[in-house]
Amino acid sequence: MLNFPNGFLWGAATAAHQVEGNNTNNDWWVKEHAAGTSIVEPSGDAMDSYHRYREDMRLLADAGLNSYRFSLEWSRIEPEPGFISRAEIDHYRRMVDTAREFGLNPVVSLLHFTVPQWMFERGFWRNPDAPDLFARFTEAALPIVADVDFVCTINEPNIAAMLAGGETAANLVAFGLPRPDLQVADALLASHKASREVLSSISGLKSGWTVATQAFHSTGEPGADEKLREYAYPSDDWYLENARGDDFIGVQAYTRTFIGPDGPIPVRDDVETTLTGWEYFPPALELGVRAAWELTEHVPVFVTENGIATADDARRIAYTDAALRGLHAAIEDGIEVIGYEHWSALDNYEWASGYRPTFGLIAVDRETFVRTPKPSLAWLGGVARANGLN
Ligand code: BGC
Repeated sequence: MLNFPNGFLWGAATAAHQVEGNNTNNDWWVKEHAAGTSIVEPSGDAMDSYHRYREDMRLLADAGLNSYRFSLEWSRIEPEPGFISRAEIDHYRRMVDTAREFGLNPVVSLLHFTVPQWMFERGFWRNPDAPDLFARFTEAALPIVADVDFVCTINEPNIAAMLAGGETAANLVAFGLPRPDLQVADALLASHKASREVLSSISGLKSGWTVATQAFHSTGEPGADEKLREYAYPSDDWYLENARGDDFIGVQAYTRTFIGPDGPIPVRDDVETTLTGWEYFPPALELGVRAAWELTEHVPVFVTENGIATADDARRIAYTDAALRGLHAAIEDGIEVIGYEHWSALDNYEWASGYRPTFGLIAVDRETFVRTPKPSLAWLGGVARANGLN
């Protein structure tokens, strides 16, 4: 048995726009409905988790998990600048309470990509006031997280800086995404710091941001190693270095990307790929965790996302088993790891790719919203109950 540390958190993650449904007031909804959009389908009702979160949480808890990571939808809480909806604050507060009721430690993300449409129209992260606006939103959200242990300020700022031009790239991996906008990266960092400052008024609350660690590999061709160093720094490493001194660093790992002399290259034809077209590569997690620990100079690591889009649930179990073995090896080497949140609790809305890539431990019928747990949920719940891997 490979044992994990006492008190290790075992959970699954979602993001508001991907599961709630009818987030009609955010930037992504507008992009989904824009003429000529490359987004394959709109999010619509999504998984109706806005109403069915209790059932979602119950399924996770019944399976044996002890944590749930979800995000707040800023566009619901602050639908117009400066107006804070008390009803929506209460809604998310009920979510925190429900998680506790089921014995799930709630991990709350303040921002998972989407912003209110008014914020987008006012320049998005290029608005000089963006950090103040995000700090004000954090202030509004304090009653929700007043007794929460772990708060993620900004999800994947490194991907957000690549999407800052309003791109709706089908695929959230380096190949095919534009280079990060460095002005936006600075704004995201300032926003993260301002948010952490506000959160520091709650004693015991731990906060950090979560980075998509992309496990860049060199093709070994002449010039590829130099290109990799030049490419990886503003894509990943800068975000990890800037987490020094934070309470934790979120690691989100899925696959690897090869870098040739001209930059990222497409996945080779002769490797196993997933429904997002990514290489099946479970060691991505261990590599991401080790990089985060080194570059943050030993900030505790929280695996806030890791998973695979597949219609073959046995592959999901195999992938996760292999990823967790790598994670365990990192822990054995002395790396402090708080917990593991699988992406995702439910099959959900995978951004520009729509509903086809299925990342969930639980399947959802999109017409009736009936939830059907997959064997992988029971499997992960068993790992959680044993706090170890056979
Ligand atoms: C994001 C999720 C996304 C997942 C799979 C991460 O980049 O945080 O929103 O669904 O990866 O692409």
